[in-house]
Amino acid sequence: MDRIHITGGTQLNGVIPISGAKNAALPLMIASLMTGETLELVNVPRLADITSLLRILGNHGVDQMVVGKRPGQTTEAGQTIRLTASNIIDTTAPYELVSTMRAGFWVIAPLLARFGEAKVSLPGGCAIGTRPVDLLIKALEALGAQVEIDAGYVIAKTKNGLRGAEIDFPKVTVGGTHVALMAASLAYGTTVIDNAAREPEVVDLAECLIKMGARIEGAGTSRIVVEGVARLGGARHEVLPDRIETGTYAMAVAMTGGDIVLENTRADLLSSALDLLGTTGAEVSSVANGIRVRRNGGGIHPADVTTDPFPGFPTDLQAQFMALMTLAKGQSTIRETIFENRFMHVQELARLGAKIRLDGDLAIIEGVERLKGAPVMATDLRASVSLVIAGLAAEGETQINRVYHLDRGFEALEAKLGRCGAEIRRVRS
Ligand code: EPZ
Repeated sequence: MDRIHITGGTQLNGVIPISGAKNAALPLMIASLMTGETLELVNVPRLADITSLLRILGNHGVDQMVVGKRPGQTTEAGQTIRLTASNIIDTTAPYELVSTMRAGFWVIAPLLARFGEAKVSLPGGCAIGTRPVDLLIKALEALGAQVEIDAGYVIAKTKNGLRGAEIDFPKVTVGGTHVALMAASLAYGTTVIDNAAREPEVVDLAECLIKMGARIEGAGTSRIVVEGVARLGGARHEVLPDRIETGTYAMAVAMTGGDIVLENTRADLLSSALDLLGTTGAEVSSVANGIRVRRNGGGIHPADVTTDPFPGFPTDLQAQFMALMTLAKGQSTIRETIFENRFMHVQELARLGAKIRLDGDLAIIEGVERLKGAPVMATDLRASVSLVIAGLAAEGETQINRVYHLDRGFEALEAKLGRCGAEIRRVRS
């Protein structure tokens, strides 16, 4: 299994291009199942999760065309993918494919809405909590689907199509909102989604569906109204920038010191995280087509933060922020309110010398003077990258094992950091 070796202690200086958002690209690719015409997606990141989803879509019979590289394009330039679901041969998404990634489960919505049936394995994904799909199922039932769970599969059917309904999520759920949006777009009549997720990825999906002919209002607010249409058509859509990748590199430079421009991204996608970084002593400013983050001298100030649905501080940046706080001058706290088991990076950060105590959903971090490199184990996607950040700031060599987690969500990580002065390399085995 590949490992990443980092020799820490160098500042980061330079430019990092930000990729298209994994968590936007996945639902957008799934939306291709909603039409027989071609959906062209631009700026899709090259990531293992994207490949896994292509496999799932391929199994349903979706034709796929990945456009080749064009002159002058770097390896990291996002790819263009054309997906055409004109000949669906199978409405089952099998365990072997869906168990590797949670988002694969979301194919249930377009399959059900367009073909009246779907059989989808209960999902897998990062082990960061129980991560049930009850709210997604309830949303489909509200729209008139008959749903049963049998032998690890969710089987959803509808006799005469889905019907518009009121869906009031008791808890904000990104996946639930994606599923409700897709299903309601092809249902008869009006659907009102209350307590909808406001994440930028939801807005991106809604914008793409609108281009495909859907009638959606209010995406980005907690009440979305969808007027169902009989059919959707093809479209071309550019995937929005990855706010989690943006925040991750911003935290890396806040920790190592230096001066980085994050290119092809937008500050409004992660205002809460950038504001917080400002309070820790980093200077954050908007530049043309991106964000500049620097910390020159001066210590890292401690901070207290709670993860929340958008526009709050994202759970997907919690581990990275914890890495930063391990070197703060004083005590910080982080409350994780979204997932109940998302502190697995704590024991790995401790190997590097971090002092962190857990009390239920609260992590109490006592800043230390320095971290020291050590072998560590990546446990989930965002936890893995928190170890990379900590390794960049630690003295000596850090070896990160099980890096396949990183490959699920961070495109060309070593190349992007390496060009900014980081001593980081992958050892293949
Ligand atoms: C999405 O997961 C993201 N994944 C996650 O990113 C992200 O952490 C999460 O949203 C929260 O922002 C993708 O977009 C592919 P949820 P999702 O439904 O949709 C509970 C990463 O690292 N819940 O918003 O699965 C759930 O257990 C990943 O890129 C139910 O109880 O998250 C959690 O506590 C990890 N029942 C909360 O809601 C349900 O039916 C929010 O989950 C559904 C969810």
